[in-house]
Amino acid sequence: MIDLGSDTVTHPTEEMREAMLRAELGDDSREGDPTVRRLERLAADRTGKEDALFVASGTMSNLVALLAHTGRGGEVLLDAESHFMRSEMGGIASLAGLFYRTIPSTRGALDLAELREKLSEKLSRNKLATALVCVETTHNSAGGAVLPLDHMAELRTLTAEKGISVHIDGARLFNAAIALGVPAAEIAKHGDSVGFCVSKGLSAPFGSVLCGSAAFIERARAYRRMVGGGMRQAGIMAAAGVVALERMVDRLADDHRRAKRIAEGISVIDPQFADPRLVDTNIVMVEVGHTGSDATNWIAALEAKGLRAGAWSKRSLRLVTHRHIDDAGVEEAIGIFRSVSMSR
Ligand SMILES: Cc1ncc(COP(=O)(O)O)c(C=O)c1O
Repeated sequence: MIDLGSDTVTHPTEEMREAMLRAELGDDSREGDPTVRRLERLAADRTGKEDALFVASGTMSNLVALLAHTGRGGEVLLDAESHFMRSEMGGIASLAGLFYRTIPSTRGALDLAELREKLSEKLSRNKLATALVCVETTHNSAGGAVLPLDHMAELRTLTAEKGISVHIDGARLFNAAIALGVPAAEIAKHGDSVGFCVSKGLSAPFGSVLCGSAAFIERARAYRRMVGGGMRQAGIMAAAGVVALERMVDRLADDHRRAKRIAEGISVIDPQFADPRLVDTNIVMVEVGHTGSDATNWIAALEAKGLRAGAWSKRSLRLVTHRHIDDAGVEEAIGIFRSVSMSR
């Protein structure tokens, strides 16, 4: 099976397994775990932040960031297709106690004129104060699109003028950094906080790291405990994260090259399927609505021939490249796609 369903299917490398086996451990919820601390230090350095916090998942990183920034109150501005809105089960309202308003966006980039209009620095008689602005890069539902740095800089200036914080959901932050050819800190500097996952293209089995100022991370640590995310000998997991950051970042360029090749191969079959120019990183969105058969149908037909794709909507599929997909797998995937499209 050529599994392009997600980059989360990646298994830990031998080096990660070895590091997990030998990790120095402590009680992370009490006096601390040295390997967790090492990962947190490394993450803070890579993102140019003062401190960092190891958490169970990207969703937990986002939730804890909301809590630590807002203390449960106010309004969050973000885009309607963000991971927060699409896939985090409404935690923003039900757990973080926040109201949210969406801002129109293009490939994940918020419309800054609209944002300016909706930002409200203080509570008034009939208006909540904006507690936080959230952005996402790479942007999952925009097909792995990378937010342009000048856009992020402008957004940062706009929010800073009003004293409003920005959280970057950088689940695939290092994909964005590789695509832009800059250190991750060049992206992260446009946010007060940033979270990234080691469990996706970086191949660790578990975990995300939330980074920010020392005071922010102190609050985040308390809220992590509140949501049940305090861990014990978590160094076993963090050890794989250290290897992920030290060894797995540069190879993401291969995943990006292969995703582009998949989009090119598929667009030759039918240009309506995908536009290779829109592939910035390791995600390819494939439109199938015009073929007369829906995404579920397509997925079953592809799977029967040995290619796993993810459903994104009724009319679109998501293909994601990762460490277990090589050049031969890419060509085979394109061949399977061609054969299924001929039978539609
Ligand atoms: C942009 C983004 N944020 C957050 C997450 C959540 O990560 P997790 O699945 O580890 O909770 C994902 C997962 O795909 C994501 O793509």
